[in-house]
Amino acid sequence: MRLPSDYIVFPLDVTDRDEAMRYVTMLRESVGVFKVGLELFIKEGPPMLSAIRDESRAGIFLDLKLHDIPETMRRALRSAGSLGADFVTVHCEQGQGMLTDEAVKGSKTKILGVTVLTSLNTGHIIELGYRDDLAKDLRKLVLKKAFIARDAGCHGIVCSGREVGWVKKELGRDFLAFTPGIRPKWSIVAGDDQQRIVTPYQAVRNGADYLVIGRPIRDSKDPKEACAMTAEEIASAL
Ligand code: C5P
Repeated sequence: MRLPSDYIVFPLDVTDRDEAMRYVTMLRESVGVFKVGLELFIKEGPPMLSAIRDESRAGIFLDLKLHDIPETMRRALRSAGSLGADFVTVHCEQGQGMLTDEAVKGSKTKILGVTVLTSLNTGHIIELGYRDDLAKDLRKLVLKKAFIARDAGCHGIVCSGREVGWVKKELGRDFLAFTPGIRPKWSIVAGDDQQRIVTPYQAVRNGADYLVIGRPIRDSKDPKEACAMTAEEIASAL
């Protein structure tokens, strides 16, 4: 049985290993997964993952958002799998063939397809040249990308809490959904770049399996207490 705190993914969006480990030690009992993104991974590399594993039982999400030709993706995913992360992200526009490699399929690392970043809104999508019907109803675009991800062999996707209900309805409960853009009512994020936001309660009610919550926890006066409040809200939605 999953605990409410197991739903919380905390991104270690910090500059170096020392700062990251301060959060790992502080929050290891309060969250389900630590996310290592580009900033930290580029600086500290694979030893960062072993350091987290040595200090905590939480899962590890390597958020690389890989995007390249299928052959390069296959090779990169083999390397990523050897690091022992539980999850890794890819962009899946290039679709077919990306995840057909046996070594990748056999790895314990689950692959998540990024759909539409939660920092984008309809205006941005129109500017990018997408068809009007997809831009005006982003759920359609997210769903289209979710099918591409599923057909490419991904175990799940990243999307906003606003679209997750649709994805689950069409692709089934077992297809994992990670939702960033989470903003508890009590959080204030200065100059927020997230557009398609929901509360933890809404995300869980809509079917999210994991909630990526960064600045509301990281920048709060008491990150442990912020996790506890979030877990309480998640519990009320289960
Ligand atoms: O909660 P906050 O906005 O601070 O979360 C930021 C984190 O969420 C970053 O690590 C960012 O990479 C991640 N993110 C994501 N997918 C999105 C939007 C943000 O993984 N669509």
